[in-house]
Amino acid sequence: MDKRPIGVFDSGLGGLTVVKALKNNLPNESVLYFGDIARLPYGVKSRELIIEYSVQITEFLIQKGAKLIIIACNTATAMALKELRLQFKETKIIGVIEPGSQQAYLDTSTKRIGVIGTDATINSRAYESSLLSIDNKIHVISKACPLFVPFVEEGMITGSAINYIVEHYLSSFQNDIDTMILGCTHYPLLKDAITRYTKNIKLVDSASATAKEANIILKKYNLKNTAEKSYRLDCFVTDLPMKFERLGKTFLGEPVGHPQLVNDI
Ligand code: DGL
Repeated sequence: MDKRPIGVFDSGLGGLTVVKALKNNLPNESVLYFGDIARLPYGVKSRELIIEYSVQITEFLIQKGAKLIIIACNTATAMALKELRLQFKETKIIGVIEPGSQQAYLDTSTKRIGVIGTDATINSRAYESSLLSIDNKIHVISKACPLFVPFVEEGMITGSAINYIVEHYLSSFQNDIDTMILGCTHYPLLKDAITRYTKNIKLVDSASATAKEANIILKKYNLKNTAEKSYRLDCFVTDLPMKFERLGKTFLGEPVGHPQLVNDI
């Protein structure tokens, strides 16, 4: 039994989709959420910078008592997971890419899997190597969809503009695959717009797969909180706490509370 919270971080609001999945799968676990609003987006930044930010945030969350760190950002997972595991050997750290890949492998029957994400995630080929390490016969077709994040941040998740953008990005490979990984924290919010276009393709939401992985790790290392109804969410942001509070509801599906501003990280 371990009452300490789980530390979750993302470049901004998107990682709240992972918190939502955690709450559904692990209702007794408290969460510390860190949104690096001041320095987003990560998806267009260099590997060095993303590692530097991720190390600072992981240190912060561990100091606040986190028993497990979840990198709820595909870009930071792609760039910094290995480095964080090397630097913070005492703490269990998981990202969203391995769980998402495992889920896609369970879902595919043709072994032809699509991956969509930010430029940084797609260019890193992290999903591709993760999928190929599961089964080297998998054929991976990847596509960066950089406009999806700003559309979600504007709340434009339905309507003709987003439908046009979805078609623009996905028309090139949607007939070749049976499963598609939504390899970015923001994309689960575009599920309706994407499904309208991809129809029978199974969409893999890394958020739920990651929450399941978190459950496995907590059990394995005896870190679960068994006290009932002990869920609590505390949020930290590096800028714009009011905006985070206003928009956070869309990602979490319920109010996020008042986030604390961190300006000395
Ligand atoms: N959280 C990022 C991801 O999942 C998307 C937003 C950003 O580029 O910072 O890749």
